[in-house]
Amino acid sequence: MPFTVVCGGFWGDEGKGKVLSYLALQDNPSIVVRAGVGTNAGHTIEFNNREYKLRMVPSGFVNPETRMLIGAGVLVDPEVLLRELKVTKTEDRMGVDYQCGIIEQKHIEIDSTSAHLKGKIGSTGSGTGPANMDRAMRSLKLARDIPELQSYLTDVSLEINDSLDQGDNVIAEGSQAILLSLFHGSYPFVTSKDTSAAAICSDVGVGPTRVDDVMVVMKAFITRVGTGELPGELSEEETKKRGWTEYGAVTGRLRRAAPFNYDLAKKAVRLNGATQIALTKLDIVFPEIAKSNNIDNIKGEVADFIDRIENTTKVKVTIIGTGPAAEDIIDMREST
Ligand code: IMP
Ligand code: MG
Repeated sequence: MPFTVVCGGFWGDEGKGKVLSYLALQDNPSIVVRAGVGTNAGHTIEFNNREYKLRMVPSGFVNPETRMLIGAGVLVDPEVLLRELKVTKTEDRMGVDYQCGIIEQKHIEIDSTSAHLKGKIGSTGSGTGPANMDRAMRSLKLARDIPELQSYLTDVSLEINDSLDQGDNVIAEGSQAILLSLFHGSYPFVTSKDTSAAAICSDVGVGPTRVDDVMVVMKAFITRVGTGELPGELSEEETKKRGWTEYGAVTGRLRRAAPFNYDLAKKAVRLNGATQIALTKLDIVFPEIAKSNNIDNIKGEVADFIDRIENTTKVKVTIIGTGPAAEDIIDMREST
């Protein structure tokens, strides 16, 4: 579909990076645009036997034909961006909106030392909260003020809307997830901005009437880094026993874990207006499906799990993640 918004269903780290890299390879979008808060998000992509943890460059970089953009609503840390452009060798196809806010060292310092942000909220320490505070004060520097970024500057909204006018596929890459939304999440244990599909559109300058699909990404179990509620939270020991232990891509912190929650899934679908669900890490909960690309392997317990999600949310599960690599996917979009 021409304009697809990809967003997170729970507290982040659902595997958006992996789903996005698959979609970029499969659907050949002319543009993949990063939305969300900023460098507090880490998207993990496994491609060509190499693992990338990206905080600025969109996960769609795996398709060499795809133009990569960062929308005006996203905070840019120039140091992180320039480093990732080198690692991914994508300098020649990256565009940054003139009006992206800039994270400076002072923001990182406040974020990583403040008793409120770091201590109570458990922020990632990446400077995003304090930078958004300065943006609200209208004192934050923008990308257009930074000499090192001049060659990347562009009007992201214009580029995307022109591409959509030509009938191209465009994918908007959300970061964080709905339950971390400043408005709809578990306040105050949330990030510094809204993270819904609507916010993703606003981040990149696309109006709601242009959205064709909203794909919400959910993991087959739930994890959370930082403080705040987590219904059904398991002990560290039980998490380990189930093989659900994960560490944060940005902070390296051990992620707290809980079983899949159908009520939260329903809420995530409602708040995002989801039209599809991508379900990741199904192989961790059901090892029999590991690395499969075959729809015929969806049977028994696996099929029951998917049925229950679809019956609760009234939305189809169209993509299933069966392993860490971009190609470890069962794609059911054709058959739905
Ligand atoms: P901040 O966004 O760094 O201010 O952190 C606020 C809360 O959101 C903390 O609980 C973080 O762990 C969480 N958070 C922010 N970004 C992400 C993300 O991309 N994945 C998972 N948790 C996140
Ligand atoms: Mg992450």
